[in-house]
Amino acid sequence: MQLSTKHLLGIRDLTREDIQTILTTASQFKEVLQRPVKKVPSLRDITIVNLFFENSTRTRISFELAEKRLSADTISFTAGTSSVKKGETLLDTVNNILSMKVDMVVMRHSSSGAPHFLARHIPAAIINAGDGINEHPTQGLLDAFSMQERFGSLKGLKVAIIGDIMHSRVAMSNIYLLKKMGAEVTVAGPPTLIPVHMKEAFDVRVEYNLRKALEWCDVANVLRIQLERQNQVLFSSLREYSLAYGINRRLLESLNREIVIMHPGPINRGVELDSDVADSGQSIILQQVENGVAVRMAALYLLSPQAS
Ligand code: CP
Repeated sequence: MQLSTKHLLGIRDLTREDIQTILTTASQFKEVLQRPVKKVPSLRDITIVNLFFENSTRTRISFELAEKRLSADTISFTAGTSSVKKGETLLDTVNNILSMKVDMVVMRHSSSGAPHFLARHIPAAIINAGDGINEHPTQGLLDAFSMQERFGSLKGLKVAIIGDIMHSRVAMSNIYLLKKMGAEVTVAGPPTLIPVHMKEAFDVRVEYNLRKALEWCDVANVLRIQLERQNQVLFSSLREYSLAYGINRRLLESLNREIVIMHPGPINRGVELDSDVADSGQSIILQQVENGVAVRMAALYLLSPQAS
């Protein structure tokens, strides 16, 4: 089994068949992860570097665990403690690491397009672990895997993506993936946090009224307000945002049916989600995190020399 691309830079570049292959392979790895011995030799003798130029909890640990479960040799790099602080360029940093016989690169970077730049200059396979406001492909894949696991199929599924669409790489990867796989997508949030021409450019519905979006959907994928990426005031206060777009138990119970709640993390509790929703039986947030390991095992394996 092989993908149509050498790198995983974004869902935008994947075919429907690529997505199906990754999700099917992830199911097989999820079965492995239920066994008493969770390790397989699939990536033995493959060396992977995890380059994190931006903070992460879930993605970084999930990739490291996925690599270890596949028996790869791994190195983890954080920009804050590296020679990047002395002025070394991204390309010099990566070429120095690759000269030590590294086969694959997982990279998170605050600049959109950073992994695409690297892919033009280095021979190793690159997996994008989130680049700026562009894409977070493995998050999109693990979200899709979790929805498929819950509902059986993505086709015809109604997914509302709620919150800070403007600054969300998770929203972009989800939209590309869900549309390719036949789901219906609504983006919902304040007009200042939804890019203009969203409907025309991505064939999604746009809804500014939270209740209407929740009444329409099977799944609400709720996003964090990304204050670190906002360089202008786009809403009056977090309290006002929460009053208009925060999801609490009272609101969920007033809907005409039960919906599934997702969130990529980290959660701003009390802003976009109250704890009585995030920790409720309707939330599959921790299943998303669990599924992330199997999905990343699949992506790593399928892009490795071992898969060809
Ligand atoms: N969902 C996600 O990317 O979380 P981290 O920033 O903790 O990796």
